[in-house]
Amino acid sequence: MSQTIPQPLPVVILISGSGSNLQALIDRAAEIGIEIRAVISNKADAYGLQRAAKAGIASTVIDHRQYENRSAFDSALAAQIDHYQPALVVLAGFMRILTEEFVNHYLGRMLNIHPSLLPDFQGLNTHQRAIDAGAQQHGVSVHFVTPELDGGPVVIRATVEIKANDTADSLAARVQTQEHIIYPQAVAWFTAGRLTLQSAQAMLDGEPVPQLERQYT
Ligand code: GRF
Repeated sequence: MSQTIPQPLPVVILISGSGSNLQALIDRAAEIGIEIRAVISNKADAYGLQRAAKAGIASTVIDHRQYENRSAFDSALAAQIDHYQPALVVLAGFMRILTEEFVNHYLGRMLNIHPSLLPDFQGLNTHQRAIDAGAQQHGVSVHFVTPELDGGPVVIRATVEIKANDTADSLAARVQTQEHIIYPQAVAWFTAGRLTLQSAQAMLDGEPVPQLERQYT
């Protein structure tokens, strides 16, 4: 069965902070065939909202603190996202744990970027934890979002070497450089119809995604 993929692909991007990954996607939107219909933040002071405004992209703030519980917040969030009818939802530093119902609503059409070589270091403070663990390598992963936090099928990872004098900040800076390369790459695959989620497996060109790894020092 052939599926028609709208071009450019309508996308909604969720942020909570700086939005440097959002910026990488704004900068390459035409090239990778996406139309960023809206940026949604749970924080009114997220710098990414200024990036969206500068690019002429609609944005909304949905403050999670205004909602009674996670489920009520997620319902409001989903209603706002669906208003824009995206084919893909991109989590770009969106710092909220999502309900299973929300995740399942976007299953196979929601990506996240996590600053570690998944499955290592799920959760927060990944750079410091990698240093503390004496790891030689660290990195970043793009994955499909499934109900398990930071546990969905990996699409692409980039590796960086941990140097002896690295701090969490110096390591994070090198990881972020890679984030801005691999996230647009993953989105480009999705836009081209090459990347799908099938039976809890990320597929590229109809085959299970190989251990795609970009290697940097
Ligand atoms: C990135 O490190 C990303 O991996 C993590 O949150 C951070 C977002 O950074 N999920 P930015 O807001 O895109 O600059």
